This record gives sequence, C-alpha cells and structure tokens, in this order.
Amino acid sequence: MGIDPLNLAEKALSHFREGSTDQSESVMKMPIDAYTDPDRYKRESNLIFRHLPMAAALSIELPEAGNYKAMTVLDVPILLVRGKDGKARAFLNVCRHRGAKLCPDGSGTSRVFSCPYHAWTYGHLGELVGRYGADTFGEIESEEYGLTSLDCQEQAGLIWTLLSPGKSFDVDLWLGDFKTELESLQLGDWVLHEQRELPGPGWKVAMDGYLEAYHHQIVHGRTVGKHTVGNLLVLNTFGPHQILTFARKSIGSLADIPRENWKPMDHIRLIHSCFPNLSISGILGGQCLVSQVFPGPTPETTVTRQSILAAPSVDEESVKVFSKMTLEAVRDEDYKIGADIQSSIHAGANDHFVFGKNEPAVQNYHKWISNFMESETYTWS
Ligand code: FES
Ligand SMILES: [Fe+2]
Repeated sequence: MGIDPLNLAEKALSHFREGSTDQSESVMKMPIDAYTDPDRYKRESNLIFRHLPMAAALSIELPEAGNYKAMTVLDVPILLVRGKDGKARAFLNVCRHRGAKLCPDGSGTSRVFSCPYHAWTYGHLGELVGRYGADTFGEIESEEYGLTSLDCQEQAGLIWTLLSPGKSFDVDLWLGDFKTELESLQLGDWVLHEQRELPGPGWKVAMDGYLEAYHHQIVHGRTVGKHTVGNLLVLNTFGPHQILTFARKSIGSLADIPRENWKPMDHIRLIHSCFPNLSISGILGGQCLVSQVFPGPTPETTVTRQSILAAPSVDEESVKVFSKMTLEAVRDEDYKIGADIQSSIHAGANDHFVFGKNEPAVQNYHKWISNFMESETYTWS
C-alpha cells in the first residue's frame, strides 16, 4: 500500500491555508568543499556513482529484442541490450581483444556487435560469437572472452545497473518501500516522445535545484512556476529516496469540496527523486519529465538526460508545449542560475552553503551523501 494522494492533497491544502511547508528541525550548513574539492569528488564518484545501483535507462527505451543503448557515465562506457529472452543486460562497452569501444554512444537495434578494430563479434548475451581471421589468430577459449558484465535488473519500468564489474545488488533492497511508489507511475505504459541531453552545473548544484520548491515562483514564474505554489512542499522520505509533493495553483479550491469528491492528482504535482541522480516529475496531467543527472569528469559539470513521456491519449501538440516548457525551465532557468553559482563558487564569498528548514529534501539528500561516503554498502534501511 503506497502513499495515498488524498493525504498528500490534504497536507498540501493545509500548508496552503497556513502559508506553511514541511520543514526540517533546523537549518543545515554544508562546507563549500563538498561542492568544490576534487579529491572529495573522486571519492564520491567511487562511493556513490560507481558503488550504488543506478537507473541507466527506461525499459521503454529498449522495447524489443536486439534493442541496445550505449552510454558513458563518468568514464565508464556501458552497453545495455535486450536479449531474445526479453531480459535486459548490461556490459562494459569494451572489446575483450585490445579494448576498443565496441559501439558508439547512442541507441539502435543490432543482431550482433562487431568491434570496429579487428571485427570480433559479440551476441546479445555478451558472448564472443566470431573472430575475424580466427585461424590465423590462434586458439583462445571463447567463453573467457565474452563482454564484461555489469549486474543489471529491470524493475518499475527502469533498467538498473551498477557501474563496477563483479559487484552485485538487489534492487528491492535498494528501493525498499519506494519501489511501490515507482511502480505506481507505470513507467512502462508511457510513450517516449523525445530525449535530449543538457550540459549543466556540478551534480550537487544541479540536484539541489530538483529538491526544493523555494525557488519556484522566483525562477520559474514564466514556466513551471505558473502551475505550482511556491515554497510549499510535502515531503515523504524512503531513506535516500524521496517523494516531493508540490501544490498546484488550484489547491485552495479543495477547501470547498467534500473530501470524498476530491480528485487529488488534479491539485498536486509529485516528484519521485531516486538517489542519487534520477528525478521523475509529473508536471501536467498525462505528461512526465524524467531527468537523469550524470556527473562529469570534474565536480563542475554534469550532463542531464531529459526524457519526455506522455500517456498514449495525449495529443502531439500538448506534448510539444510540455517539452518546450521543461526545456526552458531547466536549461534557461535552473541551469542558468546553476552556471552562475558554479562560476563564482571559488570567489571566496561562502565557506559554506546553508539549507533552510524549508528545504528538507535538500538536507536529506546531503545527509545521505555523507552516509554513503562512510559506508561500504548500498543498503540503508
Ligand atoms: S580491439 Fe576489438 S577486435 Fe581488436
Ligand atoms: Fe527549478
């Protein structure tokens, strides 16, 4: 039994009437090194991005056998492939002969993967199925030269993997009760309309912006802020994962309707934030923005993959409007401010940043970064 949207709407209505919001107990100070120190970033890359399960792709990106997606996260090239058995698998996108990148980043459909260097060929299970000039090359044990696997599990319409070969995970354990919430989104039933990649500021500067409603009226007055109430947040946490509920401008109208007649989802907007880099945001009815924030080679940069999803019944024109709005809100509003923050972060103005009581999801996020930096495990409950 997941969270009841009626209860979320009730809390949001109450905050709206009181001019209040969910809060942490106190303000929290975060030393600026957490945003700038390259050594710390290296440790975070290892203990967070290479150590925790990550949603690499949507299941609907690879609907058929033979569909693949190649991508590079940090400096790890990965290849996701759906096999004839319907199962999605993940491999390092690196040839086992002498290490050439097997296929360029991108997606498509292929029966086999043939290396561009000496044409060794691999099947959907990562198995080595052919070697050019095998009789001249000499004997090797083909079974020992399959692609290097990464653990991969498909759950809640997402393909999860872990960037370190030889390490395994249990996605149920990683998600806990958050799994039910993700499943309720039925991501497998949506239509993928568009994907694009946006350069952005460092991962914490970028992610902080996904985790509060404090800036909405100020930054997004012309875009997403038109639809939501600023500085009003209802927060549900599941360890490191979080559901942020924002109120739509219409929330106050619920006060005049008996609770049993409420259509709560018409008046709230949910953001499912999966640690460390995935945000699924239902902004307007029947449309959804999935954002994956991938860290760059330094603490200063990221690339965000935006996927625009819509219910099958939504018409093309509405999706275009939605897509344009989300692009403007993130590229021209959030990440523009993010770039400014990034450009002056070394100026010496702040030796710490301060997170308000009204930014409890930002606080929870940073608390879990610290927790995972001290732990060797991905479990949290
Ligand atoms: S490096 Fe791939 S076949 Fe030689
Ligand atoms: Fe924003």
